[in-house]
Amino acid sequence: MTLSLSTAKSNRVWPGLIEAYRQYLPVTEATPIVTLQEGNTPLIPVPTIAQLVGRQVRVLVKYDGLNPTGSFKDRGMTMAISKAKEAGVQAVICASTGNTSAAAAAYAKRGGMRAFVLIPEGYVALGKLAQALVYGAEVFSIKGNFDQALKIVQEMAMSYPVTLVNSVNPYRLEGQKTAAFEVVEALGDAPDWLCIPVGNAGNITAYWMGFCEYHQLGKCLRLPRMMGFQAAGAAPLITGQVVAHPDTVATAIRIGNPANWEKAIAVQSASRGQFNAVTDAEILEAYKLLASEEGIFCEPASAASVAGMLKVKDQIPTGATVVCVLTGNGLKDPATAIEHNQNSFSQGIAPSLAAVAKVMGFE
Ligand code: F0G
Repeated sequence: MTLSLSTAKSNRVWPGLIEAYRQYLPVTEATPIVTLQEGNTPLIPVPTIAQLVGRQVRVLVKYDGLNPTGSFKDRGMTMAISKAKEAGVQAVICASTGNTSAAAAAYAKRGGMRAFVLIPEGYVALGKLAQALVYGAEVFSIKGNFDQALKIVQEMAMSYPVTLVNSVNPYRLEGQKTAAFEVVEALGDAPDWLCIPVGNAGNITAYWMGFCEYHQLGKCLRLPRMMGFQAAGAAPLITGQVVAHPDTVATAIRIGNPANWEKAIAVQSASRGQFNAVTDAEILEAYKLLASEEGIFCEPASAASVAGMLKVKDQIPTGATVVCVLTGNGLKDPATAIEHNQNSFSQGIAPSLAAVAKVMGFE
């Protein structure tokens, strides 16, 4: 029997991660699913970067920047907003360095709710701000940082009829753990190492939940070492101290007091993992390497996973499989991309064949 093209296509339609992983998630038939068909993102080999490590180490990136709003936050937001809708919530609120606000706005509006967003003034990448505005969130920027914004929205959610959708909302982590399921399904087992950028430490916690759940079910035989990387100017988990004035080019992880601090430390010890800091220079180098050698454009914070992996590469066992999580899309932050890549950009050229050929080096 031959299938018609339309049947074949419809059989391949990805239903979104709640439908795909329904049995592992706290949803029932009564939960109205708010989805943009998030999840099912590719795990892409990065051979040039693997060569820098050597010793037959296999390196792949989980490119979660290909989610509907361009970051891994969609995984958590489909769950948080679906559960909020089930509870009859009419408004949600979050603090954000940008990606959470974009995802919250998109899913809340799709679910018919208001979305209030509190952001640190001047430190949210342009693409993310544009998204929150276009999706129709009510956006407020404070003359303060993310940590201050988070404290305010936590208090708001306690005093007013608004539901908090930051990663302290447990449904967020439930949705985000599905990324670990996908990694296991793609590899046939868990990787030896999982390298991941860490800000508020929700995602590292969620990945570990996912790996442990699949391990208990026998879907993977091993558990990865969880390697978390923070920007050097915003590295409270490495210094053990709250950072009052976090500072980094990777604005997504410009966080000085992670809300999931204790959970992150628990993941580190349970997985025999490590937290390390990477400088802005190291982040930008990995960011350029990913784009110019592998064709993968992620945002600066995401490149912290690859920068960190390269920084501690001598510790990777020979022949190991390493997955680096690329949490957000490079298009989120065009200003940083352009500012740090002026070398190959020639401007002001006369509009003639001769002039163009000359600057290209053909004459
Ligand atoms: N990468 C990106 C691109 C992010 O946007 C974030 C967090 C992280 C990594 C860190 O993840 O907080 O779970 O450890 N962004 C939040 C936001 C803070 O508001 O969008 P985490």
